[in-house]
Amino acid sequence: MADRLFIQQKVYKKTGLISKLILCVHQAADLILQLSSAPINEQDVSAFGTVFTNHMLTIEWDATHGWRAPLIRPFGNLSLHPGCSSLHYSIQLFEGLKAYRGDDGQVRLFRPMLNMERMIYSAKKTCLPAFEPSELLECIRKLVEVDQDWLPQSNSITLYIRPTYISTEPTLALTKPTRALLYVILSKVRSYAMMGLEDMCLWANTKYERTTKGGTGDCKMGCNYSWTLYALSEAKDYGCNEVLWLHGDNHQITEVGKMNIFLHWINEDGEEELATPPLDGMILPGVTRQSILDLTRQWGEFKVTERCLNMHQLCSALEQKRVKQMFGCGTACTVSPVGSIYYQGEHWYFPSQEKSSQLTTRITKELRDIQYGRTPSDWTYLV
Ligand SMILES: *Cc1c(COP(=O)(O)O)cnc(C)c1O
Ligand SMILES: *[C@@H]1O[C@H](CO)[C@@H](O)[C@H](O)[C@H]1NC(C)=O
Ligand SMILES: *[C@@H]1O[C@H](CO)[C@@H](O)[C@H](O)[C@H]1NC(C)=O
Repeated sequence: MADRLFIQQKVYKKTGLISKLILCVHQAADLILQLSSAPINEQDVSAFGTVFTNHMLTIEWDATHGWRAPLIRPFGNLSLHPGCSSLHYSIQLFEGLKAYRGDDGQVRLFRPMLNMERMIYSAKKTCLPAFEPSELLECIRKLVEVDQDWLPQSNSITLYIRPTYISTEPTLALTKPTRALLYVILSKVRSYAMMGLEDMCLWANTKYERTTKGGTGDCKMGCNYSWTLYALSEAKDYGCNEVLWLHGDNHQITEVGKMNIFLHWINEDGEEELATPPLDGMILPGVTRQSILDLTRQWGEFKVTERCLNMHQLCSALEQKRVKQMFGCGTACTVSPVGSIYYQGEHWYFPSQEKSSQLTTRITKELRDIQYGRTPSDWTYLV
């Protein structure tokens, strides 16, 4: 499939200047394979993201030559110039998706083109060059295929795919990168959903904002995550385990931790509704978020909306017992219910429900059935 794809990319094209067209041939068909002979590590996975497979994909870019041939090679350390701008100014970004081995033995990715497109969007905002999404996806498919023996047939183990894109510009000057490295690593992980985690206790903080209008909250860039650890440590001081990110004077609800958020409630007009904040530039366009919207809209059982929600609306609904469930969602955990919120010195508790009757249980099951190939769907991509 890859051979028929041939890509030319415009990297720089500025109006008013002589158009400089640089050929960027990053072709999956050029892929070079250097296989590792290391054995598969059968050790149990405990902590997220600590067990890596034997191979990695690296693709170098520079402004003179464009994209070099993609390389799948033994997993190993990178060698970076200590001055390189990804280390100093966080000119870097990442993605996160998973490979699942279905009951039929087939390995599948879940809506991976959405990750490729989001990655290009983040690259644009970091002034790193774009690439052809289907070419990168084909290289990733190949990488997963090479290391597929790491992925057992199991409902609780997946391969977490981490594409990473960094500037390798060897300068302390803050300039548009002329050198970059795109690499992909695979980590064997256990599903959070299978670990029976407790419901989240959120610190609805009015002190730190994850994002602002015109910021980069809608990009997966390292800079937007590093400092959130500080807010999380403060949340722990209040006995909470995640941060609920609010925005603006009316304490608009945006996201929770590194997840998108959904509220299942009876809204102000007495209608049953599943609501999540709209993609207004501050919200990370999650693949899980989109999939939950798509699924529940297909069910047609209640109103599904992308709308702003604020703390006042949530607290009155909790008071009036109009809240059914609130939950975070993302690739790592699929869905994670909220148990309580600590807000302006008060604890708010969510109604406890039978696990089996919860919306999150049904959503998890339907998404898993697709990811594991039990329900045929064009959302899956075969490896
Ligand atoms: C990755 C991420 C999400 C979830 O996105 P998915 O594509 O569903 O994994 C939500 N919010 C933030 C801030 C994220 O970084
Ligand atoms: C790679 O880096 C890690 C952490 O710095 C180090 O422990 C390890 O020895 C390095 N591996 C090699 C092969 O150099
Ligand atoms: C993302 O990070 C940048 C740099 O740390 C920060 O300026 C911004 O407020 C953060 N959130 C946004 C804008 O989405």
